[in-house]
Amino acid sequence: MDQARGIQALSDCGAIQAALETEHEAIENALTVLGHAMLSGASPKVLTQIMDMVLDFCEAHFQSEEQGFRDSGYADVELHACDHARLLSELRVARAAISAGQTDATIDASVLLNCFHDHVASFDEIAHAQLRGGTEHDRENLAAMR
Ligand SMILES: [Fe+2]
Ligand SMILES: [Fe+2]
Repeated sequence: MDQARGIQALSDCGAIQAALETEHEAIENALTVLGHAMLSGASPKVLTQIMDMVLDFCEAHFQSEEQGFRDSGYADVELHACDHARLLSELRVARAAISAGQTDATIDASVLLNCFHDHVASFDEIAHAQLRGGTEHDRENLAAMR
C-alpha cells in the first residue's frame, strides 16, 4: 500500500481510497468472526488466533495510514496515531484475556467492533476527506476540469 500510495494515478482513479475501505472491511470482518466464534464457544486457542489476525490487520493498516498521512503532510497525524495506539492497546488487552481463557466476563467483541467504528467515524473519515480534497494535485485537477 505504501508504494501504491506514491503512484498519483492510483489516487486519482480512487484505487487508494478503495484499498483503504477494503482494509477497514477486513478488520470489521475479523472482529465479526471473533464475535461469532465467541458465541459458538470456540476454544481460547482459536479465539487467540482470530485476535492475532485482528491485530495483524490493525497494525499493518494503522502503520500504512500513518505513513500516508505523514507523506501527505496531514497536520493531525500525531493525534490520529495516538488513537491508533489506544485501539491497539485495547485489542492487546483483549487478546491477553482471551489467551488466558477469560472469554466470557471480560471480552465483548461487539465493543471492540464499535471502538473501531468510532475511530473510523471520528478520525479516518475526516482525515481522508481532507486529504482527498486538500492536496495541491487535487486543486490542480479541479482547476483543469473547469
Ligand atoms: Fe483506517
Ligand atoms: Fe485511522
